[in-house]
Amino acid sequence: MRIVALYSIKGGVGKTASAINLAHSAAACGLRVLLWDLDPQAAATFYVRTKPRLKGGIEKLVKGKQEMARVIRSTEYEGLDILPAEFSYRHLDHILEDEKRSRLRKLLKPIRDDYDLVVLDCPPSISSLSEQVFAAADALLVPLIPTVLSLRTLEQLNTCLAELDLDAQVWPFFTLVDRRKTLHKDVMSSLKRDYPLQLSANIPYSSVVERMGIERAPISVYSRTSAPAVSYRELWQEVAQRLGLPETPAS
Ligand SMILES: Nc1ncnc2c1ncn2[C@@H]1O[C@H](COP(=O)(O)OP(=O)(O)OP(=O)(O)O)[C@@H](O)[C@H]1O
Ligand SMILES: [Mg+2]
Repeated sequence: MRIVALYSIKGGVGKTASAINLAHSAAACGLRVLLWDLDPQAAATFYVRTKPRLKGGIEKLVKGKQEMARVIRSTEYEGLDILPAEFSYRHLDHILEDEKRSRLRKLLKPIRDDYDLVVLDCPPSISSLSEQVFAAADALLVPLIPTVLSLRTLEQLNTCLAELDLDAQVWPFFTLVDRRKTLHKDVMSSLKRDYPLQLSANIPYSSVVERMGIERAPISVYSRTSAPAVSYRELWQEVAQRLGLPETPAS
């Protein structure tokens, strides 16, 4: 079982949109995928039309008083399950403060034979939850809007990982890309120099992505040939290749 996290210190950069579309692409390749919505906003949960309800709240799960398998829900997509978030997740940081850094990874242990891939959709912040995510994930997929400020948060993330003495793999990729903007082009060409692990698929700025909120579905379901759908499938292929997982649809 491999674990990837959609993570960024910054809010509104496309973490949730990417988590949904990558998880859906992975499931379409025949993988058994679990999407864990770690954000009390529960946007990922909403997108896959799941009810944000977790009996006993997140505390029971973290403390080992609730079985993981009992709170996981299936979605309407074959191979894709979700561990839905709900409002009690706002206490998650606080709950994890008393726990060892490896708690999140440990929570996933009982289901490691049930899934090929776990996708974590993280809230925007740097906190005790993030530390747990850094320690659990095989790779941190970091969406970046091509602006100078976005690059700064990437540097902050690397500093933080060094301070925590964690060598989590950081795989940045660009989202909300507007190729007509010179600034975007400049920023994008500068990144590869400093971050050789950058993923090369870029997700364009497009209203097709925004429509996810109305359609409540992954983009490939309602607009399969659109540019962002194609880009997300390309992004999945790169991620899959690096993780040693299947890259193309099973059928
Ligand atoms: N490529 C894109 N083109 C246009 N709009 C996009 C794109 N990616 C995301 N969006 C829109 O931007 C908003 C933020 O996206 P999303 O929720 O995926 O970001 P996030 O990083 O998960 O945010 P948060 O930090 O609040 O969790 C959403 O309204 C989404 O529809
Ligand atoms: Mg989000």
